[in-house]
Amino acid sequence: VENVGILAMEIYFPSQYVEQTELEKFDEVSTGKYTIGLGQNRMGFCSDREDINSICMTALHRLIEKNNINLHDIGRMEVGTETIIDKSKSVKTYLMTLFAKEGATDIEGIDTTNACYGGTAALFNAVNWVESSSWDGRKAIVVAGDIAVYGKGPARPTGGAGAVAMLIGPDAPLSLDCGVRASYMTHAYDFYKPDLASEFPFVDGKLTIKCYLSALDNCYNLFCKKMQRVDPDFKGLLSLDGMLFHTPYSKLVQKSLARLCFNDFLNASPEQRIKQFPGLSNFSSYKLEETYFDRDVEKAFMKYSEELFEEKTKPSLYIAKNVGNMYTPSLYGGLASYLISKSPEQLIGKKFALFSYGSGLASTMYSINICKDMSVGSKLERIISSLHDSVSLLDKRQCIEPGKFSEIMDVRTKNYHTAPYQPSGSIDTLFNGTYYLIEIDDQRRRSYNRK
Ligand code: ACO
Repeated sequence: VENVGILAMEIYFPSQYVEQTELEKFDEVSTGKYTIGLGQNRMGFCSDREDINSICMTALHRLIEKNNINLHDIGRMEVGTETIIDKSKSVKTYLMTLFAKEGATDIEGIDTTNACYGGTAALFNAVNWVESSSWDGRKAIVVAGDIAVYGKGPARPTGGAGAVAMLIGPDAPLSLDCGVRASYMTHAYDFYKPDLASEFPFVDGKLTIKCYLSALDNCYNLFCKKMQRVDPDFKGLLSLDGMLFHTPYSKLVQKSLARLCFNDFLNASPEQRIKQFPGLSNFSSYKLEETYFDRDVEKAFMKYSEELFEEKTKPSLYIAKNVGNMYTPSLYGGLASYLISKSPEQLIGKKFALFSYGSGLASTMYSINICKDMSVGSKLERIISSLHDSVSLLDKRQCIEPGKFSEIMDVRTKNYHTAPYQPSGSIDTLFNGTYYLIEIDDQRRRSYNRK
C-alpha cells in the first residue's frame, strides 16, 4: 500500500466560549497578559452536559455522516485522550454504540494516553496497522479528544476543549512520510494528573515550557538527520512549506518557530551563518540547553523568523487562538486551520512537518505530504470544504461572561464524582448534532442523547 494517511477529517469544539480580554479583567491580571502575552483570543469550554465520551462521539458522528462512511468498511478505531472518566472502560467502547446500530463489531483498537500526545500515538497506530501484515483492506478511524480544564490561577486561561476525527487509509491526499519520524521520550513531572479525584492537572508551568522546548530541539535535529538520509538536499525549515506545532497557547508556538531558526543557526557552518543569519553572530557560542528562557536569543530569533512564521506557521493557529488548548486534538486543529487557509491548488505537492508534545513526556516530529497526484485533488477539496463548514461554527458560538464561566467550572468540579447525577447545563446552547449527557445512574453508568 502507498501514501497511507488522512482521507477525511472533522473537528468539533464546544458552542460556548469566554473572551480572553474579559477573563483578564475578571482574573485581575494586567491587560494584555492572556491576549498578547499568551496570544489567545477566546477559550471554548463545556458545561456538565458534555464529557469525553460525548465530545468524541460528536466528532466521530460528524465524520461518518459527512463522508457517508460504511461502518463495515472500518477495521480499526483508535482514541487518543487524557480525559479519563473510567480507569478500565475505554472511550472507544462507548463509540462502538454507533457501530452497533449497523451490526459492525469487528473493529480493533482502544484508547491511548499520555497527555497531549495520545492523538498522535493513535494516528501512528492506525497508519502502522494499514501498513502491516495484519491489515485486512479496511480503513481506520482516529479520534482525539479532550476537555482541558485547569484550577483557578495562571494556567486557567490556557484551557480549551474539542475533538478531531480522521479517516485513515491508503492513497490519501495527506500522507505520512515513511521512516523519518523522530521521537524524544523521557521522564518529567512537568504536567501530570495523579489526583484521580480531580479533573485538574498538577502543573509546573515553567518546567512544561522548558520540557516542550527541549523536546522540540531534540525532535527537530533528529528529524532533519533522518530526512537528510532520504533527501541529501533537505534543509530543515527552508525545505518545509508548513511547520505545525502542538499549541498550548499561540505565543509558545511563535517562540518555537524562532527556536527552530536558532537550531538551524547553531547547525550552520561559520560561512553559512554570516550569509543566512546576518547580524546574529554574537549568538555563535550559545548552547541550546542554556537558552530556554534567554530573552536575547528569543527576541533576536523571533525577529529573524517573523516572515517565516507568517508564511509557515501562523495559518495553523486560527482554531487554537479561538478555542484554546484542546490537548490531544490541538495539533490536528492546527492541521485543520492550515488546510482551510489555502486552496487545494496552493496545497498540492506541499510538505509540512508536525511537532507533537505530551507532558510527562512523549514527543515526535513527523511530516505530511500533500499528494501531487491530481486524482486525489478532489478528496483534498472535500476535506477542505467540509472543514470550512465545521470551523465556521466558531462564529456561531455563544459568548459567556467570565463570572458565569467560573460558576459552570465550579459545577463541574463539585460534581466530578457525584452519582447518581443529573447534569444541569443547557441543551439549547449546544450545536445541532452534539451528543450530551442525560444522566449518570447510581452504578455510574452514563447515558447520552444526540441533539
Ligand atoms: N501585556 C503583554 N504581555 C504580558 C502582560 C501584559 N500586560 N503581562 C504578562 N505578559 C506576558 C509575560 O511577559 C509572558 O510572556 P513571556 O512568556 O514571553 O515571558 C506571558 O505574558 C505569560 O506571563 P507569565 O507571567 O509568564 O505567565 P504565568 O507564569 O502566570 O503563566 C503559563 C503562564 C506558565 C503558560 C501558565 O498559563 C500555565 O501553566 N499553563 C499551563 C501549562 C502549559 O500550557 N504549558 C505548555 C506546554 S505543556 C501543555 O501542553 C499542557
